[in-house]
Amino acid sequence: MPPILEARDVTRRYRVGSGDVDAVRGVSLTVDAGEFVAFMGPSGSGKSTLLHLLGGLDRPTSGDVVLDGELVSRLSDDAATRLRREKTGFVFQFFNLIPLLSVWENVALPFTIAGEDARHGEPADAVRAALASVDLDGKERHRPDQLSAGEQQRVALARALVRHPALLLADEPTGNLDFSTGTEILDRLWSSCHEGGQTVVLVTHDAKAAAYADRVYVMHDGSLRDEIRLGRREDHGAGQLIARLADLGL
Ligand SMILES: Nc1ncnc2c1ncn2[C@@H]1O[C@H](COP(=O)(O)OP(=O)(O)O)[C@@H](O)[C@H]1O
Ligand SMILES: [Mg+2]
Repeated sequence: MPPILEARDVTRRYRVGSGDVDAVRGVSLTVDAGEFVAFMGPSGSGKSTLLHLLGGLDRPTSGDVVLDGELVSRLSDDAATRLRREKTGFVFQFFNLIPLLSVWENVALPFTIAGEDARHGEPADAVRAALASVDLDGKERHRPDQLSAGEQQRVALARALVRHPALLLADEPTGNLDFSTGTEILDRLWSSCHEGGQTVVLVTHDAKAAAYADRVYVMHDGSLRDEIRLGRREDHGAGQLIARLADLGL
């Protein structure tokens, strides 16, 4: 399989006042279609910045990002947005649901943005299936503030999944959840990858979450410091990863 995602010597410099912050410093990597890859690293090491670059939410200062064969970093804004909507689904730490919309409307948003009416036909079937896949049947008419944190993240996940994007990107999706609700989210990401064939890129500081991945990149100060290959393991045991991190002095 060709890689679905490639970063070629990618940097991202933020201008802050009179100084610069080099949030990502020359990252090169590939992710194969169907892989589950995690990024770990301390706060401020550039994980979120890199994820946004990989998913086409932000543009590199230099270097290139190739998403499913397209040089997303060189596309016009409109073309990059179109590619991102077609190929990716994002899940964030703080859910990023729209408070005034119902659960159904939030999950239907990718269709609405694409100009499709999600109240009928195939889009409606897709919304229903996405909600069922995260066990939210019966909650369609609730508003986000009428749901628990775990349920809100499941809505966000359903929204990311609803158009079956090839690539799912998740930034600390369990960061605001307790262990068991976090595990539900990770299990759902896992089944999207292992059964659904989608590619998953997960940012987390939690080794138990990263242990779902086939491969873990460790970031430090904007660079990839290490790469740990775990292989696919249905038990998601974190022991091997924790031992490897300890060997690296982390
Ligand atoms: N929008 C921004 N403007 C200026 N600096 C930023 C911005 N976003 C992130 N940074 C800085 O870039 C570095 C990496 O941040 P980030 O990618 O959020 O790291 P992480 O997700 O690993 O915590 C940090 O030093 C952070 O302060
Ligand atoms: Mg972050």
